[in-house]
Amino acid sequence: MTNIVAVGAQWGDEGKGKFVDWLAARTSIVARFQGGPNAGHTLVVGDERIVLHHVPSGILHEDVHCVIGSGCVVSPLRLAEELRELDRVGVDWQARLLISERCHLIFPYHEALDRAREARAKGDKIGTTCRGIGPAYEDKAARRGVRFCDLASPEGIARVWENWRFANFLLEHWFQAQPVPRESVEEALEVARGWLSRFVGDAGAWLRARMRRGASVLFEGAQGALLDLDHGTYPFVTSSNTVAAAAAIGTGVGPLAIHEAVGICKAYTTRVGAGPFPTELYDGERLLDPIGRHLAERGQEFGSTTGRPRRTGWFDAVVVRYAVEVGGLTALALTKLDVLDGLAEIKICTAYELDGKQLLLPPADPAALARCRPVYETLAGWDTATAGVHDAAQLPPAARAFLQRVGELVGAPVRWVSTGPEREEVLRLR
Ligand code: GDP
Ligand code: IMO
Ligand code: MG
Repeated sequence: MTNIVAVGAQWGDEGKGKFVDWLAARTSIVARFQGGPNAGHTLVVGDERIVLHHVPSGILHEDVHCVIGSGCVVSPLRLAEELRELDRVGVDWQARLLISERCHLIFPYHEALDRAREARAKGDKIGTTCRGIGPAYEDKAARRGVRFCDLASPEGIARVWENWRFANFLLEHWFQAQPVPRESVEEALEVARGWLSRFVGDAGAWLRARMRRGASVLFEGAQGALLDLDHGTYPFVTSSNTVAAAAAIGTGVGPLAIHEAVGICKAYTTRVGAGPFPTELYDGERLLDPIGRHLAERGQEFGSTTGRPRRTGWFDAVVVRYAVEVGGLTALALTKLDVLDGLAEIKICTAYELDGKQLLLPPADPAALARCRPVYETLAGWDTATAGVHDAAQLPPAARAFLQRVGELVGAPVRWVSTGPEREEVLRLR
């Protein structure tokens, strides 16, 4: 029995969904521990392409149970839509999904506040997914949030209306935005207290009991290390802890229950939303280098949740080295190697240069990070396609040299490589 946590080691969208879906065949439970509908995890199996937001990426495996842990924030309306979509594609999820009663709820007024803040921000937009993540975690930290279990009491319901009135006050008088109608909050409440409640329970107790009986758990992160509230490129981060240690807190298990921490990273770098990005080659609109567009087009880099074009750049070993350190990552799963196929040269950023000094880790100050210049090492590219390769022995030598070098530079070996979006397009390195 091995419990593994798999987390993003860059700025999100590293291919966590794809890798977790593949790895889930070897586990009995997949648990999400933070984030909510800001996540967009893509699973491709045969002709079907499914994007999951709240639901763990093990749901396509008939014998895998899925847990939405207490560290997650849940939008009842969006989760209901996501579950209806699973029904539509014929996934039998009903007996296999358990949502923690301790999850805080995202109401329509959280989304409205998120949108209003982003619309009002001038040069300091974060570029959030506008899913109400920040406002919902704010309410949680302020101890006025509402959890599933609070909906059973009149005090809990009263708190929803109190929060709604306060949000509308801010929307109208501070943001000069439209207030949220009472009906949309009622609708969310009805779903949360109604049919969704059948899948809500004490997920922490259930998980611990299953683990005592020997079940193996795969903890699935959302976002990535550089979007972590404490360790990421603050303030251009999400409002939860995304690093591996958060898996214990966000599900209610002890830190020693987790045996391995796998970092998932792309063979290059992407970022969606604002904030410093030292190896950036394409900002979603402006092209800084032709390779930037190549990565965006070949990698089909559009947000899975918002559809926004993703910013692209070379692999940044400073970023992933930092993710390895703060996450205690024991190995890497490197995705999208196929996107580099056919490039004559491949660059890796090994360090940053700032005010005449070389840095091996990113500085905390976002203004300093924005001034960092990448120091590149250039490796040979490869002509033979890696797309769809399942066997490490079939990788071109230059691709193997790239993977080896990535492992050396970041301080954790690349153990798995993904060579395409399909579930089985994965190979294991010895
Ligand atoms: P997540 O948020 O980390 O789960 O990643 P997303 O699903 O948001 O974005 C990753 C995108 O890359 C999805 O469209 C995947 O289908 C796709 N993808 C994952 N792994 C690979 C790969 O190895 N090669 C290619 N070409 N696409 C991949
Ligand atoms: P997955 O799990 C990539 C980014 C947003 C924005 C910042 C804050 O699919 O990797 P938020 O809505 O969380 O308040 O936005 O974080 N962001 C993501 N970027 N992948 C994600 O999730 C993200 N979730 C949030 O673009 O910059
Ligand atoms: Mg994503």
